[in-house]
Amino acid sequence: MKKTLIMKTTMKILLINGSPRKEGNTFLALNEIAQTLQSEGMETEIVWIGNHAMRGCIACGQCRSGKPFADGHTGCVFNDDGCNAITAKFASSDAFVFGSPVYYGQPNGTLLSFMQRAFFSQGDALRNKPAAAVAVCRRGGATAALQTLLMPMQIMHMPIITSQYWNIAYGREEGQVKQDAEGLQTMRTLAHNMARVLRGLANEPIPEREPVTPTHFIR
Ligand SMILES: Cc1cc2nc3c(=O)[nH]c(=O)nc-3n(C[C@H](O)[C@H](O)[C@H](O)COP(=O)(O)O)c2cc1C
Repeated sequence: MKKTLIMKTTMKILLINGSPRKEGNTFLALNEIAQTLQSEGMETEIVWIGNHAMRGCIACGQCRSGKPFADGHTGCVFNDDGCNAITAKFASSDAFVFGSPVYYGQPNGTLLSFMQRAFFSQGDALRNKPAAAVAVCRRGGATAALQTLLMPMQIMHMPIITSQYWNIAYGREEGQVKQDAEGLQTMRTLAHNMARVLRGLANEPIPEREPVTPTHFIR
């Protein structure tokens, strides 16, 4: 049966800040997006995960069983580091922005740990919903970090939201991103593009999907 992606009147965008600096440059870039989305009549929430001791996926596979754990919780087996509390917001969110500082040309580790567990345990609540990746750096490595952030979105049928430039803002010390006028403009353009895509998809049914034909490389 064909499903309609979004039927709510007010759409909600969840923005995840991977930086350990609560109100650092990544936050400022995400905040520019959030304020622009609000100006388009959308609800936003910025969630800060950078201070969480976020464990990596241990490939136990229990999240996929559908059965609650012994203590009654569902989702990821680790229930004490914020991952499940944040993924609980996925179902009521219509689109997502994952924002990361660039560390050695990569997204920061906390965000990657979160994303790998979140996509594996709660992918159904992300599938088909628009998403964007944002990288913030001093000077280099942002495009490689962006590519890494996009990989899980690309296998979850998530329409990727782009801008007038790659979704990058520049700054080193906290607050410096405010001096990157083009970077902030890129964030605003991204937000307008996301709002447009959300409105355009609001009554658009999700296409029938062919049953997946899983193949791998040992035969
Ligand atoms: C461990 C570490 C590695 C970093 N690696 C890079 C890098 O590869 N390229 C770069 O341009 N900046 C790098 N930076 C600088 C940060 O990306 C930059 O300060 C950014 O503004 C931090 O964002 P935040 O304020 O949201 O934490 C690094 C910073 C740290 C702490």
